[in-house]
Amino acid sequence: MKFASFLKLALITQGAAGHYIFSTLISGKKTSTNAVRRPAENAPVHDFLGTEITCNVNTTNATETVPIVAGGTVGFELDENKRIYHLGPAAIYLGKAPGKVGHWDGSGKRWFKIAEWGATFNPFTFRSLNKSKFTAVIPKDVPSGEYLVRIEQIGLHIPGSPEFFVGCAQIKITGGGSGKLRKVAIPGYVSAEKDPGLTANIYWPIPTEYTVPGPRVYRGTKAMQARQFW
Ligand SMILES: *[C@@H]1O[C@H](CO)[C@@H](O)[C@H](O)[C@H]1NC(C)=O
Ligand SMILES: *[C@@H]1O[C@H](CO)[C@@H](O)[C@H](O)[C@H]1NC(C)=O
Ligand SMILES: *[C@@H]1O[C@H](CO)[C@@H](O)[C@H](O)[C@H]1NC(C)=O
Repeated sequence: MKFASFLKLALITQGAAGHYIFSTLISGKKTSTNAVRRPAENAPVHDFLGTEITCNVNTTNATETVPIVAGGTVGFELDENKRIYHLGPAAIYLGKAPGKVGHWDGSGKRWFKIAEWGATFNPFTFRSLNKSKFTAVIPKDVPSGEYLVRIEQIGLHIPGSPEFFVGCAQIKITGGGSGKLRKVAIPGYVSAEKDPGLTANIYWPIPTEYTVPGPRVYRGTKAMQARQFW
């Protein structure tokens, strides 16, 4: 699709009433809505330095924590068969609860990124556009335990004013390892200074490079990846 068509799409959908909620957890071939902390509304979060950036606004308490074996896939699906229509990146994070995940609000330096969807060029667009499902592989050496899995898609359609669509769900990772993870806090994981990808003007001049905000994706330690060949 040509860049001009995307611009048109962005303008048409800008006034649409319904935004989106990541309402369903995907774990392998199964899905769960009970494991999701559902936000009070489908509007985006704007303040990426506030606590609502962690798991969204006034979320329900999930009633289920879904077990997933390390090495398996985890992800989210949007409500009502919706598709992403705001240009911008997406990412999936894992946050290790200090104990039972049901009692954890997501605070502290306990998060790492396991997948991201950035930009493509000629023509410039974002990989998250028009997707309804996002899944990632949990690296095999992630420690076992209870986690929040968090997704974010950042709408960059108003340059300088990013809109965050975020959601969290509760999982329990089993069969994990002892990967050395560098963790971040959410909020605290992005800043306007450190992450030009938050405030970039995506229309003009047309970007020729783009870095997804936040830390690098953790894909498992090298030793672990090598061991998988044995
Ligand atoms: C969230 O909860 C607070 C306190 O109950 C309330 O004042 C606020 O309006 C709620 N926000 C949304 C978006 O529901
Ligand atoms: C709801 O979740 C919060 C953490 O986000 C926790 O502090 C609280 O105890 C939970 N409430 C119930 C009734 O489990
Ligand atoms: C979005 O994806 C659906 C399903 O793959 C496809 O039918 C539709 O044409 C796509 N829309 C755009 C704008 O690319």
